[in-house]
Amino acid sequence: MYGVKRGVLITFEGVECSGKSTQAKALARWLAEKDLPHIFVRDPGTTQIGENIRKILLNPRLGNMHAKCEVLLFLAARSQLTYEKLLPAIREKQIVVCDRFADSTYAYQTYARNLPARLVAVFNRFAAAGIKPDLTFLVDIDVAAAQKRGVGGDRMEAEKTEYHERVRDGYLKLAHRAKKRIRVLDGTLPVEALHQQVVAAAGDLLLRKGYRL
Ligand SMILES: Nc1ncnc2c1ncn2[C@@H]1O[C@H](COP(=O)(O)OP(=O)(O)O)[C@@H](O)[C@H]1O
Ligand SMILES: [Mg+2]
Repeated sequence: MYGVKRGVLITFEGVECSGKSTQAKALARWLAEKDLPHIFVRDPGTTQIGENIRKILLNPRLGNMHAKCEVLLFLAARSQLTYEKLLPAIREKQIVVCDRFADSTYAYQTYARNLPARLVAVFNRFAAAGIKPDLTFLVDIDVAAAQKRGVGGDRMEAEKTEYHERVRDGYLKLAHRAKKRIRVLDGTLPVEALHQQVVAAAGDLLLRKGYRL
């Protein structure tokens, strides 16, 4: 790993059933095949504390959760993930593949739930210790098409279709503002075609950062 100064963070974003986890796991497998040092994590989750918070967040019986409580729980899980996993991995020059991260908070809570943007952005940075993804894949798909792939039973998935459409719009708006960092992928493409695009972009980044592929 000659030339590598610090690890990198690659995140996957998108609406429910867009194919994020499929692509994130495929990238992690590709890194494993190449013997590149990496970890695969999910947000919220991965840490013991984060997985417990995740259960509360996704519990469909807790449908009366206030939007403020929701965002603070997501950020609580993210801060634990950041300090327990991400910061040490980045320090150790590992490649971190993360299924969702801070952009989800913008799309789901700020944009789709109308929480105050500046305030949430400050707390989002606070939770993530200012870490920004080096590369983000936004797996973009029409909400109706995504919903055909799976019937969502968890608290977030149970939200109305209009809510998920706002989430998609929020993501696209963000991608428009951060063209260099966020790659928008056409989520209707076959899994393998998407994987080739992911590997091409991630490979470019890793070479630039000094990894040998
Ligand atoms: N590109 C694709 N084309 C068709 N089906 C897909 C594609 N990617 C994923 N799927 C399927 O859609 C469902 C949701 O995929 P998943 O990766 O779990 O989505 P997410 O993590 O975004 O919720 C799974 O059944 C998966 O096999
Ligand atoms: Mg998933």
